[in-house]
Amino acid sequence: MTAKIIDGRKMAAELRDELAERVSRLSGKPHLAVVLAGNDEASLIYDRNKQKAAEKVGMVCDIYHLPEDVLQTELNRLIDGLNQDKNVNGIIVQLPLPVHLDAAAALRRILPEKDVDGFGLYNTGLLWTQGKAFFAPATPKGILHLLKSVSPDLSGKHAVIIGRSNIVGKPLAALLLGCDCTVTIAHSKSENLAALAASADILVAACGCAGLVRKEWVKPGAVVIDVGINRVEGKLSGDVDFDGVCENASYITPVPGGVGPMTVAMLLENTFEAYLQQSKETL
Ligand code: GUN
Repeated sequence: MTAKIIDGRKMAAELRDELAERVSRLSGKPHLAVVLAGNDEASLIYDRNKQKAAEKVGMVCDIYHLPEDVLQTELNRLIDGLNQDKNVNGIIVQLPLPVHLDAAAALRRILPEKDVDGFGLYNTGLLWTQGKAFFAPATPKGILHLLKSVSPDLSGKHAVIIGRSNIVGKPLAALLLGCDCTVTIAHSKSENLAALAASADILVAACGCAGLVRKEWVKPGAVVIDVGINRVEGKLSGDVDFDGVCENASYITPVPGGVGPMTVAMLLENTFEAYLQQSKETL
């Protein structure tokens, strides 16, 4: 078997085009505020990409760049101000924050109706208990789009997620449970990881270990989603040994050009939804 590629770049471009058209019919512009503390190189690039993508679909995106040594009180004050600002529809705090800051406290502070990353306690609780939050986290939401594009009925499938982060693994598990998947969350301490992976109909690698998932870990016909973004010898590569796994998988996402572009598109979609909810405009 040679896996077919799930083209996240193309799908994200289509979603952004649709969004641009919908934004053009609004009376105002959805407004996203990005809070960035410090100078993490990847975060600087991600946030610049988010800003460019937002502006391209007709939204406003301001980046609030705080110094590396910013105090929690100052961070809190900024979030409180953005919460109160009627012009701001969505707020995200770029992670990771500098280590002296309490990221959980910052995320808790964002009003649930502006928490377009869906990382706050309220939205996390809604996702797990009601199956639906104001906003679901962008990367898992993007992954679900990619999966549904090749496998519209996920019911009863065994999904194995390697990685238990709050950004990807855990919220993705909640979303897949909502689609009636059987979900296994595996991680670096899991025993028999290869055997667990090989039992998956849907295998999601989100652990940040370059090339961890090899051909033998993949059941013939499985759908493989690679969330990894690793820099190996100056080149971006995922958590999946792409060439080898292509021999067993039915579908696979590339790195780059798979999950990454979908994350940005989903964040914009969430910001658009935030605008609609807050403005009470309908389309
Ligand atoms: N860091 C890595 N991924 C994300 C994300 O989706 N949102 C935020 N805020 N920070 C991140």
